Amino acid sequence: MREGQAERDAAPLWWQSGVIYQVYPRSFQDSDGDGIGDLQGIRRRLDHLVDLGVDALWISPIYPSPMADFGYDVADYTGIHPLFGTLKDFDRLVADAHGLGLKVILDLVPNHTSDEHPWFREARASRTSPKRDWYIWRDPAPDGGSPNNWLSEFGGSAWAFDPATGQYYYHAFLDRQPDLNWRNPQVAEAIHAVMRFWLDRGVDGFRVDVIWHLMKDVAFRDNPPDEDWREGMNPYRRLKPVHTTDLEEVHGVIAGLRQVMDAYDDRVLIGEIYLPVERLAAYYGASLDGAHLPFNFALLEAEWNARALADLIARYEGSLPEGGWPNWVLGNHDRPRVATRLGPDQARVAAMLLLTLRGTPTLYYGDEIGMTNVPIPPERVQDPWEKNVPGLGLGRDGVRTPMQWDGSPHAGFSDVEPWLPVDEAFPEVNVAQQRAEPHSMLELHRELLRLRRAHAALSIGAYVPVAAGGDLLLYGREHAGESFLIALNLGDVPVLAACGPGLAGRIALSVFCDRMGERVVDEVALRPCEGVVIALDGAPPSFSGLR
Ligand code: GLC
Repeated sequence: MREGQAERDAAPLWWQSGVIYQVYPRSFQDSDGDGIGDLQGIRRRLDHLVDLGVDALWISPIYPSPMADFGYDVADYTGIHPLFGTLKDFDRLVADAHGLGLKVILDLVPNHTSDEHPWFREARASRTSPKRDWYIWRDPAPDGGSPNNWLSEFGGSAWAFDPATGQYYYHAFLDRQPDLNWRNPQVAEAIHAVMRFWLDRGVDGFRVDVIWHLMKDVAFRDNPPDEDWREGMNPYRRLKPVHTTDLEEVHGVIAGLRQVMDAYDDRVLIGEIYLPVERLAAYYGASLDGAHLPFNFALLEAEWNARALADLIARYEGSLPEGGWPNWVLGNHDRPRVATRLGPDQARVAAMLLLTLRGTPTLYYGDEIGMTNVPIPPERVQDPWEKNVPGLGLGRDGVRTPMQWDGSPHAGFSDVEPWLPVDEAFPEVNVAQQRAEPHSMLELHRELLRLRRAHAALSIGAYVPVAAGGDLLLYGREHAGESFLIALNLGDVPVLAACGPGLAGRIALSVFCDRMGERVVDEVALRPCEGVVIALDGAPPSFSGLR
């Protein structure tokens, strides 16, 4: 997609040119010796983010919570869980981060509260409670069972019976996470007030949890079966959630959230949405009045070969609305780690892809040192999803293990045994060790981020697809007369990208952190699983033959 004059002229916003880093607070840094990370710990480690070269940190929920879903069950939207610290600690963290030039993004969880939230306690107290309608209540079916067939993402029916008041309430996740009723304007007002509370404290944006879930069918129709579902698959997938997610009406709710943001300068609204890339366009809003960044999770599940990726990028670029800014995510606290899914070699290629594609990248803590999924012994399982639906590999504990800082006991994360086990590989795989190795995964990330920061073409530049075949993925990035060619070998045999005249430049970076400055003309030879960024003398070539 070539950029127009207007786009070239407009100065990019921080969340367009910048890179987001996700911190899972329980696992980043413990500062008070309870084996669980905290705000003070994050503060202590801000230098790492600066050294790495990212621009913003998104912190998963830190609010008071019974921790049934590790903070995604909020009991007080405007407080800090004592495990993590105090509001004062939070203010200090924001001040320090801002002082270092880092933005702070909080997780907003407006789809559901904890069952211990005072709103829900009040709602369930009686059918006539003024808060009753803040949640989604239905009478039992004639046989006394669930009102309809809706399923919880975390297993079983999405309806929980409340014996005291004789009705069921809807919960898209755990029964301890009742869904709020966004058809009630008081709910919107209450959540908007929560947003202002944090925005007034200096927060730079929100990542909105399960934003595509916020509205459910007003007529409570059954969800239809998914014919592709087979025994052994995630039981939630048995039905197509057409009446519980991605409803047209959700866009009105999102526009309301966006209006709150727009009353402040320079803030960002990010939406968590697991949908095919073509469906993401709608979440920018009909007149770009929706999310600034509807999270694009396509890389989390993409078939890892050059042709599938080229096609995916083209489909995504092609489906973006005019003026909608793209984004890419390679890992998060819910999905397998990239280094486990793709292996260590392709994880390097993936890092180069993430950090050179057009669009805001989100990096998941630990991926910058190649952390892998950690096997969790049965007696240490924490994730309620794994407990509810065991044995299908849905558990998320293995991607939430403590950050590996150094080779000291507990990897420098804590003085005591942490809440989840530290990966046994920590003596070799840790930040301190990789800082000392010029070819490490960490150095690759630092170099990629340095290049991105130094060259606007790599952050806000146009994306120029370059035709190629086999295992080769090629694309150009261009901005204000500066051009780069990114050449990625998705295979494990050497490949020669023969672009002919039109390819002339110098290698700025290889995923192996060597070849810097090497001159390339007409063709570039790539080793197995090698990716390179080439600073071009002129415009990108239009195609490459393979040899
Ligand atoms: C989101 C969160 C996930 C959580 C769920 C319910 O998908 O990322 O961790 O369990 O919402 O809040």
